[in-house]
Amino acid sequence: MRDTVSGLEKILRNDVDAPKVVLVIGPPGSMKTSFCFSVMSRHLSGAGEIGMYLTLEETSASHAKNMKSIGIDYGKNLFISDFTDIRELELVGDESPTDYISLIERLVRNFKQKHGKAFTMLTIDSLGALYSLMDDGISLRKSMYHFFKNLREMGLFTMLIMEGSIADGKFYSGTEAFLSDGVIYLGMDSNRGKITRFVQVGKMRACDHSMERHALEVGRGGLQVLGPMLGNS
Ligand SMILES: Nc1ncnc2c1ncn2[C@@H]1O[C@H](COP(=O)(O)OP(=O)(O)OP(=O)(O)O)[C@@H](O)[C@H]1O
Ligand SMILES: [Mg+2]
Repeated sequence: MRDTVSGLEKILRNDVDAPKVVLVIGPPGSMKTSFCFSVMSRHLSGAGEIGMYLTLEETSASHAKNMKSIGIDYGKNLFISDFTDIRELELVGDESPTDYISLIERLVRNFKQKHGKAFTMLTIDSLGALYSLMDDGISLRKSMYHFFKNLREMGLFTMLIMEGSIADGKFYSGTEAFLSDGVIYLGMDSNRGKITRFVQVGKMRACDHSMERHALEVGRGGLQVLGPMLGNS
């Protein structure tokens, strides 16, 4: 994935191979959606592989429109799914109506059966939206452990988007972060009235990576990672 966003090789010193489950965390507007979608579109078109972007935040059509407006192109090998695809499964399935993790897993498995080895990448946007659909009674930790395991067994490189910010300089350490193979933090720094976006990798198993914040910009060629940010932790 290090060659998908220009400059990302400054942070990831060796490539990140599938299978992996990676959390992409950040506050509103920090480019979580744009980042994951560009990583996918770049990787898939280069490798001739197939991916699924599952958006639970909006419809496929509005997601596609937003990505076009920001200048991120994508090909036919990147499928955008939304809640209506899960709804269809819900109507014919025998899962409990609130077990959306199982429904998503079934959607992904069906896609795997259809496309086989060519299906290599998945993004779920977002975990917050998924959790809000679930019943409180469901043990999330247990469900997530099995969910992550099954995603890895399907050989997928999965990115899971999550809303959140670093509080008091502490890196996100929720359950998902322990269970995942990597945590990428997208943040915003305000300095003298100007907000700068940055990307920081807090964890990436089997990868030699920088822990520093690197500025992230949207240019004409899409997203771009610039140099490390000085004077910040
Ligand atoms: N054409 C554009 N050029 C540059 N920046 C843009 C453009 N269109 C949108 N943006 C910026 O991108 C931001 C949204 O990016 P994105 O949707 O990827 O963030 P996000 O972290 O997924 O947000 P959310 O938390 O709402 O899901 C906007 O707030 C805006 O600042
Ligand atoms: Mg988003």
